[in-house]
Amino acid sequence: MIDIYDLWKAFDGNEVLKGLTLKVKKGETLVILGRSGVGKSVLLKHIIGISHADRGYIEVDGVRVSDLRGEKRYQASLKMGMLFQGAALFDSMNIEDNTAFFLKQHGNLETGKKYSRSEIRDRVDEALRMVDLEGTQKKMPSDLSGGMRKRAGLARLIVYRPEYLLYDEPTTGLDPITAMQINELIVETQKELKATSIVVTHDIVSALFVGDRLALHKDGKIAYVEEPDTFLKIDDPIIEFLRKTISEDPRTFRRK
Ligand SMILES: Nc1ncnc2c1ncn2[C@@H]1O[C@H](COP(=O)(O)OP(=O)(O)O)[C@@H](O)[C@H]1O
Ligand SMILES: [Mg+2]
Repeated sequence: MIDIYDLWKAFDGNEVLKGLTLKVKKGETLVILGRSGVGKSVLLKHIIGISHADRGYIEVDGVRVSDLRGEKRYQASLKMGMLFQGAALFDSMNIEDNTAFFLKQHGNLETGKKYSRSEIRDRVDEALRMVDLEGTQKKMPSDLSGGMRKRAGLARLIVYRPEYLLYDEPTTGLDPITAMQINELIVETQKELKATSIVVTHDIVSALFVGDRLALHKDGKIAYVEEPDTFLKIDDPIIEFLRKTISEDPRTFRRK
């Protein structure tokens, strides 16, 4: 479980987070919607530990990670994986090496031992299979389409089976069909890893497709967190606008 309480953050007088409080339940996929520039990426960076709040705290499984610094904070972040906006692959490494990067660097998080070459190869193959990219091991990121690069970025995360997955705008910039493939992958990955996920998006179709609960990030706070049906009925101009943009409930597209 992630427990965020009264989080404040300003950049040079620009107050971005203004007492943000949010609880993410174990095993759920929580979607955070909100307009550009409200601080959704800033919030994710606080959760993973790249940014530090001015006030308030973040607890992950009962550990107050926001109080940790340096190596301890870094260790605490290893149970989380974040898919950054734009996938962030290393352009000079092939897909196999990109996917293996974390495994080679850290070894097994539980035993502290390095992985053998064959273990790395097997896990990389499995992760690439999960994202439908088998056979691309020797390809370079520049050989792949935007959607494939996103999937490779996801393979890089799931290869070490993090307990928490953070997605920053996973469908932004993709065509609707590719976006739907990414949505399906988010749902499948969640099931396969039994992870807890936070998905930041301004895409209501994606939000309804993947989310167990939906939150609205507004004025530096989480204004509402509700299950999808309740969320869509909230009397708020932003939610009303989102509601009007969907003609068919995207959950009906889910494979049975
Ligand atoms: N490192 C930073 N330094 C200064 N301002 C920042 C920094 N990171 C984010 N901001 C500001 O915080 C606000 C929220 O940004 P962001 O979280 O990226 O929004 P979004 O909701 O679109 O992801 C913006 O006004 C942005 O300019
Ligand atoms: Mg952002």
